[in-house]
Amino acid sequence: MEFDYNKAAERYDAYRKGGGPFLKTLHELACRSNAAHVLELGAGTGNNTQAFLDIYPCKLYGLELSRAMVKRAAGKVHAAHWVQGRAEHLPFRSASFDFVFAVLVLHHILDIFPVMQECRRVLRRGCAAFVTSPHDFIDRHPMNRYFPSFAAIDKARFHPIEKIEEALKQAGFTEVIAERIIGEPQPLDHRYLEKVKGRFLSTFDLLPPGELERGIAHLQADIEKYGVVPVDVRWECVTVWGMC
Ligand SMILES: C[S@@+](CC[C@H](N)C(=O)[O-])C[C@H]1O[C@@H](n2cnc3c(N)ncnc32)[C@H](O)[C@@H]1O
Repeated sequence: MEFDYNKAAERYDAYRKGGGPFLKTLHELACRSNAAHVLELGAGTGNNTQAFLDIYPCKLYGLELSRAMVKRAAGKVHAAHWVQGRAEHLPFRSASFDFVFAVLVLHHILDIFPVMQECRRVLRRGCAAFVTSPHDFIDRHPMNRYFPSFAAIDKARFHPIEKIEEALKQAGFTEVIAERIIGEPQPLDHRYLEKVKGRFLSTFDLLPPGELERGIAHLQADIEKYGVVPVDVRWECVTVWGMC
Protein backbone atom coordinates (compact mmCIF):
# COMPACT_ATOMS: atom_id res chain seq x y z
CA MET A 1 0.00 0.00 0.00
CA GLU A 2 1.31 3.48 -0.87
CA PHE A 3 0.91 6.49 1.37
CA ASP A 4 -1.57 9.12 0.09
CA TYR A 5 -0.05 12.62 0.41
CA ASN A 6 -3.15 14.24 -1.10
CA LYS A 7 -5.08 13.09 1.98
CA ALA A 8 -2.22 13.93 4.38
CA ALA A 9 -1.55 17.47 3.12
CA GLU A 10 -3.93 19.13 5.62
CA ARG A 11 -2.39 17.60 8.73
CA TYR A 12 1.23 17.30 7.47
CA ASP A 13 2.46 20.64 8.81
CA ALA A 14 0.99 20.12 12.26
CA TYR A 15 3.65 17.53 13.08
CA ARG A 16 6.46 18.04 10.55
CA LYS A 17 8.80 21.01 10.49
CA GLY A 18 11.65 21.96 8.18
CA GLY A 19 15.34 21.87 9.00
CA GLY A 20 17.46 19.21 10.59
CA PRO A 21 21.02 18.04 10.96
CA PHE A 22 21.33 17.50 7.18
CA LEU A 23 20.89 21.20 6.29
CA LYS A 24 24.53 22.11 6.92
CA THR A 25 25.64 19.47 4.40
CA LEU A 26 23.13 20.66 1.79
CA HIS A 27 24.38 24.21 2.31
CA GLU A 28 28.02 23.15 1.89
CA LEU A 29 27.22 21.21 -1.29
CA ALA A 30 25.29 24.15 -2.77
CA CYS A 31 28.23 26.46 -1.98
CA ARG A 32 30.69 23.99 -3.47
CA SER A 33 28.55 23.83 -6.64
CA ASN A 34 28.37 27.63 -6.72
CA ALA A 35 24.67 27.00 -7.27
CA ALA A 36 22.47 29.78 -8.61
CA HIS A 37 19.66 27.52 -9.87
CA VAL A 38 18.48 24.87 -7.42
CA LEU A 39 15.85 22.14 -7.76
CA GLU A 40 14.23 20.39 -4.79
CA LEU A 41 12.50 17.07 -5.55
CA GLY A 42 9.49 15.92 -3.50
CA ALA A 43 9.43 19.25 -1.69
CA GLY A 44 6.19 18.41 0.17
CA THR A 45 4.64 21.48 1.78
CA GLY A 46 7.87 23.43 1.41
CA ASN A 47 9.22 23.16 4.96
CA ASN A 48 12.73 22.23 3.93
CA THR A 49 12.47 24.52 0.90
CA GLN A 50 12.06 27.47 3.27
CA ALA A 51 14.76 26.19 5.63
CA PHE A 52 17.18 25.89 2.69
CA LEU A 53 16.29 29.30 1.22
CA ASP A 54 16.82 30.89 4.66
CA ILE A 55 20.48 29.87 4.61
CA TYR A 56 21.06 29.80 0.85
CA PRO A 57 19.04 32.42 -1.09
CA CYS A 58 18.83 31.36 -4.75
CA LYS A 59 16.44 30.72 -7.60
CA LEU A 60 14.75 27.54 -6.39
CA TYR A 61 12.19 25.29 -8.09
CA GLY A 62 10.18 22.97 -5.85
CA LEU A 63 8.89 19.87 -7.63
CA GLU A 64 6.18 17.86 -5.90
CA LEU A 65 3.98 14.96 -7.02
CA SER A 66 0.91 15.56 -4.84
CA ARG A 67 -1.42 18.32 -6.00
CA ALA A 68 -2.58 19.04 -2.43
CA MET A 69 0.97 19.24 -1.05
CA VAL A 70 2.17 21.55 -3.84
CA LYS A 71 -0.86 23.79 -3.28
CA ARG A 72 0.03 24.20 0.40
CA ALA A 73 3.69 24.76 -0.46
CA ALA A 74 2.87 27.46 -3.00
CA GLY A 75 0.68 29.21 -0.43
CA LYS A 76 3.51 29.26 2.12
CA VAL A 77 6.82 29.58 0.34
CA HIS A 78 6.47 32.43 -2.13
CA ALA A 79 10.20 32.71 -2.82
CA ALA A 80 10.20 29.34 -4.66
CA HIS A 81 8.72 28.41 -8.04
CA TRP A 82 6.31 25.49 -7.65
CA VAL A 83 5.76 22.71 -10.16
CA GLN A 84 3.66 19.57 -9.91
CA GLY A 85 5.47 16.60 -11.39
CA ARG A 86 7.41 13.39 -10.94
CA ALA A 87 11.07 13.09 -10.05
CA GLU A 88 11.35 10.30 -12.64
CA HIS A 89 10.25 12.60 -15.52
CA LEU A 90 11.46 16.09 -14.76
CA PRO A 91 9.60 18.83 -16.63
CA PHE A 92 12.75 20.94 -17.07
CA ARG A 93 15.22 21.54 -19.87
CA SER A 94 18.55 19.74 -19.81
CA ALA A 95 21.47 21.49 -18.11
CA SER A 96 19.34 24.06 -16.30
CA PHE A 97 20.33 23.54 -12.63
CA ASP A 98 23.50 23.57 -10.51
CA PHE A 99 22.23 21.69 -7.45
CA VAL A 100 19.40 19.19 -6.92
CA PHE A 101 18.34 17.90 -3.51
CA ALA A 102 15.59 15.79 -1.96
CA VAL A 103 14.76 15.15 1.71
CA LEU A 104 13.09 11.84 2.59
CA VAL A 105 11.60 11.26 -0.86
CA LEU A 106 13.39 8.30 -2.49
CA HIS A 107 11.58 5.73 -0.30
CA HIS A 108 8.35 6.65 -2.12
CA ILE A 109 9.87 5.78 -5.49
CA LEU A 110 10.29 2.11 -6.38
CA ASP A 111 12.81 2.53 -9.21
CA ILE A 112 15.32 5.26 -8.35
CA PHE A 113 17.54 4.78 -11.41
CA PRO A 114 15.40 7.06 -13.67
CA VAL A 115 15.47 9.72 -10.92
CA MET A 116 19.26 9.81 -10.95
CA GLN A 117 19.35 9.89 -14.75
CA GLU A 118 16.92 12.80 -14.76
CA CYS A 119 19.02 14.62 -12.14
CA ARG A 120 22.13 14.16 -14.27
CA ARG A 121 20.24 15.44 -17.33
CA VAL A 122 18.94 18.65 -15.71
CA LEU A 123 22.27 19.47 -14.01
CA ARG A 124 24.66 21.45 -16.16
CA ARG A 125 27.30 20.62 -13.54
CA GLY A 126 27.23 20.55 -9.77
CA CYS A 127 25.67 18.08 -7.39
CA ALA A 128 22.64 15.90 -6.62
CA ALA A 129 22.05 15.11 -2.91
CA PHE A 130 19.50 12.81 -1.24
CA VAL A 131 18.69 12.68 2.47
CA THR A 132 17.45 9.27 3.59
CA SER A 133 17.15 6.88 6.56
CA PRO A 134 19.73 4.08 6.81
CA HIS A 135 18.53 0.55 7.62
CA ASP A 136 20.58 0.19 10.81
CA PHE A 137 18.89 3.31 12.23
CA ILE A 138 15.47 1.97 11.22
CA ASP A 139 16.35 -1.24 13.12
CA ARG A 140 17.34 0.76 16.22
CA HIS A 141 14.44 3.22 16.02
CA PRO A 142 12.75 3.65 19.43
CA MET A 143 9.29 3.17 17.87
CA ASN A 144 10.09 -0.52 17.18
CA ARG A 145 9.28 -1.39 20.78
CA TYR A 146 5.75 0.01 20.39
CA PHE A 147 5.02 -0.89 16.76
CA PRO A 148 6.39 -4.37 15.92
CA SER A 149 5.96 -3.90 12.14
CA PHE A 150 7.78 -0.54 12.08
CA ALA A 151 11.22 -1.72 10.90
CA ALA A 152 9.90 -4.23 8.35
CA ILE A 153 7.68 -1.59 6.73
CA ASP A 154 10.44 1.00 6.49
CA LYS A 155 13.22 -1.36 5.43
CA ALA A 156 10.98 -2.49 2.56
CA ARG A 157 10.60 1.15 1.46
CA PHE A 158 13.91 2.89 2.19
CA HIS A 159 16.55 2.01 -0.37
CA PRO A 160 19.86 0.75 1.01
CA ILE A 161 22.57 3.43 0.88
CA GLU A 162 24.66 1.27 -1.49
CA LYS A 163 21.78 1.17 -3.98
CA ILE A 164 21.48 4.98 -3.99
CA GLU A 165 25.25 5.24 -4.50
CA GLU A 166 25.08 2.72 -7.34
CA ALA A 167 22.21 4.58 -9.03
CA LEU A 168 24.17 7.85 -8.86
CA LYS A 169 27.27 6.21 -10.35
CA GLN A 170 25.26 4.53 -13.13
CA ALA A 171 23.79 7.91 -14.04
CA GLY A 172 27.30 9.30 -14.49
CA PHE A 173 27.93 11.04 -11.17
CA THR A 174 31.44 10.95 -9.73
CA GLU A 175 32.76 11.50 -6.19
CA VAL A 176 29.75 9.63 -4.80
CA ILE A 177 29.77 10.02 -1.02
CA ALA A 178 27.44 9.08 1.87
CA GLU A 179 27.60 11.05 5.11
CA ARG A 180 25.77 10.12 8.30
CA ILE A 181 24.54 12.84 10.61
CA ILE A 182 23.12 12.34 14.10
CA GLY A 183 20.75 14.94 15.54
CA GLU A 184 20.37 16.20 19.09
CA PRO A 185 18.71 13.92 21.70
CA GLN A 186 14.94 14.34 21.88
CA PRO A 187 12.76 13.43 24.89
CA LEU A 188 10.30 10.57 24.39
CA ASP A 189 7.53 12.41 26.24
CA HIS A 190 3.94 13.64 25.83
CA ARG A 191 4.99 15.89 22.92
CA TYR A 192 6.45 12.96 21.04
CA LEU A 193 3.25 11.04 21.79
CA GLU A 194 1.21 13.82 20.17
CA LYS A 195 3.35 13.55 17.04
CA VAL A 196 2.78 9.78 16.93
CA LYS A 197 -0.97 10.31 17.38
CA GLY A 198 -0.75 12.77 14.46
CA ARG A 199 1.02 10.03 12.44
CA PHE A 200 4.01 12.28 11.75
CA LEU A 201 5.75 9.45 9.86
CA SER A 202 3.96 7.84 6.91
CA THR A 203 5.00 4.49 8.45
CA PHE A 204 2.18 4.83 10.99
CA ASP A 205 -0.42 4.77 8.19
CA LEU A 206 1.00 1.55 6.82
CA LEU A 207 0.81 -0.53 10.03
CA PRO A 208 -1.49 -3.59 10.08
CA PRO A 209 -4.99 -3.01 11.54
CA GLY A 210 -4.98 -2.38 15.30
CA GLU A 211 -1.19 -1.97 15.66
CA LEU A 212 -1.32 1.83 15.70
CA GLU A 213 -3.90 1.91 18.51
CA ARG A 214 -2.08 -0.76 20.57
CA GLY A 215 1.28 0.98 20.15
CA ILE A 216 -0.13 4.40 21.13
CA ALA A 217 -1.70 2.87 24.27
CA HIS A 218 1.63 1.23 25.19
CA LEU A 219 3.60 4.46 24.60
CA GLN A 220 1.02 6.48 26.57
CA ALA A 221 1.31 4.04 29.50
CA ASP A 222 5.12 4.37 29.46
CA ILE A 223 4.90 8.18 29.42
CA GLU A 224 2.44 8.14 32.33
CA LYS A 225 4.86 5.89 34.21
CA TYR A 226 8.16 7.66 33.44
CA GLY A 227 7.28 11.18 32.27
CA VAL A 228 10.18 10.89 29.86
CA VAL A 229 10.74 7.30 28.70
CA PRO A 230 14.41 6.43 29.33
CA VAL A 231 15.44 5.57 25.76
CA ASP A 232 17.84 7.29 23.42
CA VAL A 233 15.89 9.20 20.73
CA ARG A 234 18.14 10.88 18.19
CA TRP A 235 17.32 11.31 14.54
CA GLU A 236 19.95 9.79 12.29
CA CYS A 237 20.03 10.38 8.58
CA VAL A 238 22.40 9.80 5.71
CA THR A 239 22.96 12.28 2.89
CA VAL A 240 24.15 10.60 -0.30
CA TRP A 241 25.49 12.81 -3.05
CA GLY A 242 27.30 12.74 -6.34
CA MET A 243 29.11 15.46 -8.28
CA CYS A 244 29.11 16.05 -12.01
C1 LIG B 1 8.14 12.42 3.44
S1 LIG B 1 7.55 13.65 2.33
C2 LIG B 1 8.91 14.79 2.43
C3 LIG B 1 8.54 16.17 1.99
C4 LIG B 1 9.65 17.19 2.09
N1 LIG B 1 10.81 16.78 1.33
C5 LIG B 1 10.03 17.40 3.54
O1 LIG B 1 11.15 17.04 3.91
O2 LIG B 1 9.19 17.92 4.29
C6 LIG B 1 7.77 12.92 0.73
C7 LIG B 1 7.24 13.77 -0.42
O3 LIG B 1 7.66 13.22 -1.65
C8 LIG B 1 6.61 13.35 -2.59
N2 LIG B 1 6.80 12.36 -3.67
C9 LIG B 1 6.56 11.04 -3.61
N3 LIG B 1 6.87 10.46 -4.79
C10 LIG B 1 7.30 11.44 -5.62
C11 LIG B 1 7.76 11.47 -6.98
N4 LIG B 1 7.82 10.37 -7.71
N5 LIG B 1 8.12 12.66 -7.50
C12 LIG B 1 8.06 13.80 -6.76
N6 LIG B 1 7.63 13.83 -5.48
C13 LIG B 1 7.26 12.67 -4.90
C14 LIG B 1 5.36 13.10 -1.76
O4 LIG B 1 4.18 13.56 -2.39
C15 LIG B 1 5.71 13.84 -0.47
O5 LIG B 1 5.30 15.18 -0.50
